[in-house]
Order: sequence, then structure tokens, then C-alpha cells
Amino acid sequence: MLKFKSIISRFLAIFFVSTLSVYSQAESTVITIKSDENAPVINKHIYGHFAEHLGRCIYDGFFVGDNSEIPNTNGVRNDIVEALKKLQIPNLRWPGGCFADTYHWKDGIGPLDKRPTIVNTWWGGVTEDNSFGTHDFLNMCELLGAEPYLSGNIGSGSVQEFADWVQYTNFAGTSPMSDLRKENGREKPWNVKYWGMGNEAWGCGGNMTAEYYANEYRKYATFVTDWENTGSVVRIASGASSDDYAWTETLMKNVPAKMLGGLALHHYSVIDWNKKGESVDFTEDQYFGTMSEALKMEELVTKHSAIMDKYDPAKKIDLVVDEWGGWYDVEKGSNPGFLYQQNTMRDAVLAGSTLNIFHNHADRVRMANLAQCVNVLQAVILTKEAKMILTPTYHVMEMYKVHQDAKLIPIKFVSPLYIYNNKSLPALNVSASKDSKGLVHVSMVNVDSKKENKIEIDMNELGVKSITAKVLTSKALQDHNSFENPTKIQPADYKGFEVKKGKLIVTIPPFSVVVVEGK
Ligand code: AHR
Repeated sequence: MLKFKSIISRFLAIFFVSTLSVYSQAESTVITIKSDENAPVINKHIYGHFAEHLGRCIYDGFFVGDNSEIPNTNGVRNDIVEALKKLQIPNLRWPGGCFADTYHWKDGIGPLDKRPTIVNTWWGGVTEDNSFGTHDFLNMCELLGAEPYLSGNIGSGSVQEFADWVQYTNFAGTSPMSDLRKENGREKPWNVKYWGMGNEAWGCGGNMTAEYYANEYRKYATFVTDWENTGSVVRIASGASSDDYAWTETLMKNVPAKMLGGLALHHYSVIDWNKKGESVDFTEDQYFGTMSEALKMEELVTKHSAIMDKYDPAKKIDLVVDEWGGWYDVEKGSNPGFLYQQNTMRDAVLAGSTLNIFHNHADRVRMANLAQCVNVLQAVILTKEAKMILTPTYHVMEMYKVHQDAKLIPIKFVSPLYIYNNKSLPALNVSASKDSKGLVHVSMVNVDSKKENKIEIDMNELGVKSITAKVLTSKALQDHNSFENPTKIQPADYKGFEVKKGKLIVTIPPFSVVVVEGK
């Protein structure tokens, strides 16, 4: 009876875990990999980041002010700029999040002593002095070489205010707003391309129904424009939370396609919103829970894309996952409204897996933003006074940057299972691409917390002669970089592969990320 029960539960687990394929427990997993001229390019904007006026992301994070002893350029930390440039960060979303729908951009321009203070009602009730505003952010993006992605205020703003912001940042000629910009010291427009039309309109952005928001969107989009509709302004609609497919359906149905550059999606890997668990001191059960939520991204992008396909079969509208990542309890002793958390190997596995999913859906997912960049949620950078550390998530993004703007190589395989407590998940996830120099990269994640897994690829199919590899691994899932030991987790050259009879066999240690480069 017991045996029968366990067979049944195993079968159910296999059935429910993923849309990928059927599963096997073979010695090594054979990957079929085949270049396809018609395959999409992996848009570099999938590697975007997010910087909200939340906790220590902007103030005491990116921005320390130009009087700080920490080396800075116009108040922005030089070490952060250097680290993010190394990541080739393609875009940065600002000023929120929930904060965006409370933000009035005119509060953050002009002489500092004339800027009003406001209260950051969403995040800790702290007083915001508006010392970091539009100029600071857009100039910082120039320093980073990243495209700005501005989230406009629909929840508590007005159409006029939003349209003025576009004119202020983008209009070269003479106009009230461009003259004001010039008075404030900036002659040339910044030409901001990406505009978020509110944020989480179903929640903190105004608790709107999808139908109501669709109407609001149409009205705002009419005035948030490049005036000639040349496509230089890309409007991104506030999208669904996780599996709210009705939201996507309603927007796609009610907003004319030509008004929609992108449709957003937010999904956080949270085990339980009332009991999120600690960021470092977590159990295997919690690890399994986080990874189940993270791997759900496969199903979410598949199903949201299918709805978009109905209304936009030519796939012109981008699916923009502009908030994703792990969300745990805040660090003990830190402000609960500041969402400061550590970042471990769990986050590395989460990031590698999510990016693999995005790559494999590159035909529709063309932009994404990890939440958030510095000192908030699944940050790539943590700071403490003058110190700065790079998290395991940073290292995954650095290892994976080779995929930016490279052509996807479709792959097929049957994943073994990561079995825990009678539940299971696909143990392996993989994606591959070929860059403009002809280099082939395959990124592989082993989600299994205990078992190593092997992957086998035909060298001829891969179309390469020689292989090098890098790995991100550590002894314990909970391992992380700290201010005392900032380089505990770092990518290393990897020799855990062999080429035998024309087959490349890569061993992937438990909870590790490997990127193989083929020439
Ligand atoms: O990233 C933190 C918050 O999560 C954002 O402000 C909001 O959009 C989401 O609910």
C-alpha cells in the first residue's frame, strides 16, 4: 500500500511540476541542441535592474551625496557604478514600484533648498527630501551606460503631470518644460525611451479594476507620446501579478496594440506572504518552496504569452517582467519597511534558473528587471558605509551577460528530478545562445540541493571545437558574501567536464550554476 501511495505521489509530482517535459533519472541528461536561423535574439534588456526610493536603495545606497567621503560622481558611488558597468546593465527602472504612484517629479528638480519634503508612505514612513531627482537619475544612467526606464504616476498624478515629464526629459525644441530643463542646467534632452504607465495598478498603484485601468491607460498613452509616434517612446502597461491571467486578457483586449509597447508582469518567489522565512537561516523545505515559486515563472510566461499571442500574433508587444526575485523576511534589527535581506546560493540558483526561463522565451520576454539593485530584496550589491559587496546573484548576472543580444539556440532535454519530501521539481534548467563573434554559451543550473547532475551534449551539434567553463558553487546553500568575507562566493574557472567520443559531459554540482563557452 505504502509503495503504491509513493508511486502515485511521485507520478502526481512529475505531472504537476513543470511544462517542460517528461522526466527521467538517467545517469547523464542528454541535451539536444540545434541552431535555428529563425530563433529569436535574447534581448539584453532582460538583464535590467530596478531602483526604487525604498529603504537604502537610493539614499545610502546608490546616492551618498557629493559631500560624502565615499568616492562619488555627483553624489553617486563610484564603486557601484563600476560594478554595474561590469555587468553591462542595460536599463534601470526608477523611481518605483509603489513609490512611483506617489511621486511628483517636479518635487525633485531645481535648487535643492527649494525642494519640498514628502513622506514615503509605502516604505517605512520616512521623510524623503527629494535630493535625488530626475536629473540625478538620468545623469546616473548616462554614467552607467544604461537606458532609463521611468515609471510615471498614474495612481495619484495627472495626465498633464505625466505628459510634462516626457516633454521635460525628451523635447529638444522650445517649450515650457524643455526651457525649465535648460534653466536647471541640462541643455540636451535625455530621450527617455521606456515609460512605465503606473505600477501595480491592481494594488498600490490605485486598486483599479483591469477594465478601469485599461481606460486610464488609453487616456494617458494618448498624451505620453513622442508626438510623431516614431516609436521612440515605448509605453509599458502595468501588468498582472503572477497568475492573474484575466488582467492580461482584459488589457490585451481593450488597449489598441499600437498604444502598447510592453505589458508588465510581476512575480516574486515567496513561500508564504505571512511567513517568508529568513534570507540566510533557511531550511531545505524553505529552499524547495522558494525554488517551486521561482520555477513557476516558466508556466507564467508561457500562459501570459499565449494570451498575448491571441491579440498580437506577430509578437510586437513585449512581455516585460519588471519585478522578479526572491523576497524573504528583513534582516534582524533592520527597518521592516526597508526590505533589506542577505543573498545566498539559493538566490544564485533562483537567478540562474529565472534567466534561463527568460532566454528560452526570448520571442516574447524582451525586458525584465530584478528587484532590486542595491540593498533591497534580491540585490546584486549590498553596502555598509564605505564597504560594498557583490552578491551571488551579481555573479550569476556577470557570468550570464554573454547571452545579452545573442541568438537563442533552442534546446530539448528531459530533466531528472530533484526529489524532496515526496515532492519534486525539475533538477536541471538550461539555455544556450550564439553571440555575434560565433561563441556558443550554455548556462546550466542544478537546482538539486544534494545530488550532482551530468549533462551530455554532442560537440557537433554544438558546432564548436574547444570548451572552457565557469562555475558558481559553494559548500552550503546558505553560504553568502558578507562585509567580513566579501569574496566567499565568486565564479571560478571550471574543469568539471570532459569531451569523450565527440560528446561534452559536464558535471554540475548541487545548487550550482555553470556557464560553458564553446569556440
Ligand atoms: O519591490 C518592492 C515592491 O514590490 C514594489 O514597490 C511593488 O511594485 C511590489 O509590490
